[in-house]
Amino acid sequence: MMRTEIIKMLQTHRHDYISGEEISKIMNVSRTAVWKIINQLRQEGYDIESSPHKGYRLVSQSCDLNQSELEIALSGNDVIKRVVYLQSIDSTNKYAKELGHQENFESTLVIAETQTLGRGRLGRTWASGEKQGIWMSLLLKPTIQPTLAARMTLLAAAAVSEAIDAATGLCTFIKWPNDIILDDKKVCGILTEMSAELNHINYLVLGIGINVNQIEFPAEIQEKATSLKNVGGQDYNRLEIVVKFIEIFSKYYRLLIEENDFGTVIEYVVRKSATLDREVDVTAGANKRRVFAKDIDENGNLIVINESGEEEAIFYGEVSV
Ligand code: BTN
Repeated sequence: MMRTEIIKMLQTHRHDYISGEEISKIMNVSRTAVWKIINQLRQEGYDIESSPHKGYRLVSQSCDLNQSELEIALSGNDVIKRVVYLQSIDSTNKYAKELGHQENFESTLVIAETQTLGRGRLGRTWASGEKQGIWMSLLLKPTIQPTLAARMTLLAAAAVSEAIDAATGLCTFIKWPNDIILDDKKVCGILTEMSAELNHINYLVLGIGINVNQIEFPAEIQEKATSLKNVGGQDYNRLEIVVKFIEIFSKYYRLLIEENDFGTVIEYVVRKSATLDREVDVTAGANKRRVFAKDIDENGNLIVINESGEEEAIFYGEVSV
């Protein structure tokens, strides 16, 4: 992509000007074509200075989410091949599932500035205010048995937690199986959906919502939800978090698919667990039980000591303390 190549050039020359002529020679296109792309980039939010005799210069390095930066972050990535960046969509999960129905789809990251019908687990809605958080879905075709799909949710949870910590310096925890917790409140939720045959996955969608810079929440979740800004007291750069997430997720995904190593993820999840070594309520459908959360096994199941004092593996449910 010409756009991403030009951004890379501007970034490498960041303290200097690079002339339109030089760019046009390297890219083998006309100077008018270069000028058009520079204008597109300005519209995407890049602050590019131009001087008649010197050429172009990227004034500021930091920028927010946009298609080009996400493409740069994904270049050479063999786990996530494509990115679709949208201003507004009903739900990125719904969009990703529609892509998943196409024949020979590629693994894709779908990300939107706002969702008009963001969906949470158990039919709940997910508040997805414009530019306030990271609303994204990963469409994948993992070569694992459908019965092991829950591993993917945990893998995503580990990658989100690690990415937030690395990009912000905050300290998140994981509430099995798919919430990221900050300061005892939920800062991120994951909604995994899939289409599968008995022994193979057609596609799997990991929908991830991270509350980043909002300070207010709908009344019904105000007590339970938080954002990075609420806890860290500053605005955070969403692009940095997404780029870290892509890097860490891809690393864990390769370990699982190519080396059958899920232990590295489990080790992280256990270390960062908000709900182990204590009594918890596990709700599955209408059934609520008080159990002792002991461990997470190699498949990502929660190991509990149940009401009868026996050890039991739990595959799904909502945990509360
Ligand atoms: C939860 O209830 O905890 C899961 C929330 C998942 C929200 C994300 S935001 C991006 C993706 N698109 C959706 O419609 N939902 C998920």
